[in-house]
Amino acid sequence: MTAPLPESTSFAAAPALSAASPAAGAAGGSANGATTVAIDLGDRSYDILIGAGLFDQASSWAGLPRAAVALIVTNDTVAPLYLERLKRQLAPLYGRVEAVVLPDGEQHKRWESLDVVIDHLLAGAADRKTVLFALGGGVIGDLAGFAAAIYMRGVPFVQVPTTLLAQVDSSVGGKTAINHPRGKNMVGAFYQPMRVVADLDTVDTLPDRELSAGLAEVIKYGPIADPAFLDWIEANLDALLARDKAALAHAVRRSCEIKAWVVGQDEREAGLRAILNFGHTFGHAIETGLGYGEWLHGEGVGCGMVLASELSARLGLMPASFVTRMTRLIERARLPVTAPRLGIDRYLDLMRVDKKNEGGEIRFVVIEGLGKAGMRGAPDALVAEVIEAHSERHAGASTPTEPPQR
Ligand SMILES: NC(=O)c1ccc[n+]([C@@H]2O[C@H](COP(=O)([O-])OP(=O)(O)OC[C@H]3O[C@@H](n4cnc5c(N)ncnc54)[C@H](O)[C@@H]3O)[C@@H](O)[C@H]2O)c1
Ligand SMILES: [Zn+2]
Repeated sequence: MTAPLPESTSFAAAPALSAASPAAGAAGGSANGATTVAIDLGDRSYDILIGAGLFDQASSWAGLPRAAVALIVTNDTVAPLYLERLKRQLAPLYGRVEAVVLPDGEQHKRWESLDVVIDHLLAGAADRKTVLFALGGGVIGDLAGFAAAIYMRGVPFVQVPTTLLAQVDSSVGGKTAINHPRGKNMVGAFYQPMRVVADLDTVDTLPDRELSAGLAEVIKYGPIADPAFLDWIEANLDALLARDKAALAHAVRRSCEIKAWVVGQDEREAGLRAILNFGHTFGHAIETGLGYGEWLHGEGVGCGMVLASELSARLGLMPASFVTRMTRLIERARLPVTAPRLGIDRYLDLMRVDKKNEGGEIRFVVIEGLGKAGMRGAPDALVAEVIEAHSERHAGASTPTEPPQR
């Protein structure tokens, strides 16, 4: 019933990591392996453009719907880095190019910020042809996408993701949302962009922690869909951490291909799309349990994948060596692999409110064989064992032989 995952076109040689790798954006390198991944959703189909230097190429912005007004939504961290460059490219194409600059942070992915965007549009009499550009990470993409979905019942929008996480995950697939004080992403819509422009040069300015958080989502695609990609990530992780453009281009492209394949079969998450949440049930519990902002989403997902791998092993679906393999890779990506001590009951409570649950049972994405994921329930006692097996030692306990944990 499900279409086969398309083969990647170039797994061939792992890109060499040149020690003297020039800072990206060096003149002349603009067309550095630029590629396009097509998202096939009938009349909502669109392209993801991936490459270094895409910002400054007119072709990245050509062919979008014409309009009197373009509105760029961004935040006060990204604006000083990239806003003027984007404005310069869009100026010849639109009558007016405007910008809303929101405060940075997940805590601003909320009604009040949405209202600022909608109010700006109405105050400027922006019509229903207005094109919105989401310039930033997943927070901006989710919020601006939702604004585009509801302004005048929907205006065209373009994702311009500037974090690795947004390039490999949140900008693709059409999920848009804001948070509610009672829950993350609880108010939103499925609404596809007209295009995604992922300029890999933007990764150069990302803080190290954000780079690693993005790598968690890259790693996730291997075990759920593509064993060869998992091998490739293991072989190229150092190049990815060094922000090597050829390595990043491959990682972003393959991640988007896999996401496109999943979303193409299950746009509205009736089933298959849930496999993209590998590691997320545990990860969300950690994020929420520690309080937003303590661990990044990708950090929760990294540790969550260790726990979900352990669960897969304890359910008899995978060998113990798989858990070791995943733990090693996640640790190498500079992500946490040891779960914080929230208390088992707290973990279970937090996981029971997950959107994916049905009828009170906690459902987990598990690996059923390399490259194949499924959804399973598990007894609380087993889940408790899994968490215990990967929890940090008691605070204050003297464990001199343990390496320091983050
Ligand atoms: N819609 C989806 O399918 C989907 C999927 C995964 C995650 N998400 C959402 O995405 C959000 C997380 O996204 P994120 O990890 O991109 O976080 P983010 O948007 O908060 O960005 C992380 C940080 O990096 C900064 N930043 C962005 N680009 C930068 C650049 N090029 N250089 C320097 N700093 C830069 C941001 O200002 C922010 O401080 C969450 O809200 C999550 O719910 C959505
Ligand atoms: Zn995620």
